[in-house]
Amino acid sequence: MALIEIRNLHKTFGTHHALAGINLEVEEFDLKVVMGPSGCGKSTLLRCLNRLVEPTSGDIRFRGESTLAASVDVRKLRQSIGFVFQQFALYRHLTALENVTLGLRKLRGLSKAESRDKALFELNRLDMAPHKDKYPAQLSGGQKQRVAIARALAMDPAVVLFDEPTSALDPLMVREVAELFNRLRRENVTMLCVTHDLTLARQIADSVVFLDEGVVKAESSIAHMVSEHAEVQVRNFFGGDDMAQST
Ligand SMILES: Nc1ncnc2c1ncn2[C@@H]1O[C@H](COP(=O)(O)OP(=O)(O)OP(=O)(O)O)[C@@H](O)[C@H]1O
Ligand SMILES: [Mg+2]
Repeated sequence: MALIEIRNLHKTFGTHHALAGINLEVEEFDLKVVMGPSGCGKSTLLRCLNRLVEPTSGDIRFRGESTLAASVDVRKLRQSIGFVFQQFALYRHLTALENVTLGLRKLRGLSKAESRDKALFELNRLDMAPHKDKYPAQLSGGQKQRVAIARALAMDPAVVLFDEPTSALDPLMVREVAELFNRLRRENVTMLCVTHDLTLARQIADSVVFLDEGVVKAESSIAHMVSEHAEVQVRNFFGGDDMAQST
């Protein structure tokens, strides 16, 4: 059984079909990368997974249980399914350390000392201990992202969702983010990452999911998407045409 199973998931906004029957699985310890053009439904899919958006129909199973049942404790679900937002969403009036301890105290009910220890452990794991007392405004984009990741990891989630982890960063940061993802993967952190950054995808995944117009169009290796995929639109997205022109 996969950790997350998404079955025929639909989401409509008015008449617009943002998700039109998504089927997808995320295995434990996997780093799953979902790519696709702007507006194809990537953020909506992530938001359905931790119920920031309520799907119109279909099902999401987490460890075999539906996350959409009325009985599900959404707060608990969000502790198990962590989310790192595109703009990191840190509290501006709190230091890095306080941003990480807040959830530990409020959601997990840890004592002041316990939450500080856990937060320091997570910040240290992300090489952010020297910056623990800085406010978000005093941190670089990459450092803010690390605080946001530390905050998510501090809840000991079963999986962490990332929405466009490189879009708010300098392009030169891509390699650093890729190294971080690869390190977290070696530490057995299960991750689902949506991005349209092909450079990042190449550095963290052999195989990717291609989403278009709210459906999974393909799931295969990037090399296959580039050169052999039957649909020209898939080849184009993965730069197949550019490569043809440059050779
Ligand atoms: N709250 C909303 N109300 C109405 N329409 C929405 C809402 N959220 C998303 N949409 C629409 O659903 C579609 C999918 O949006 P989504 O944000 O999931 O795309 P995306 O793949 O994340 O795009 P991007 O790469 O630009 O971030 C878009 O057409 C968008 O306009
Ligand atoms: Mg998006």
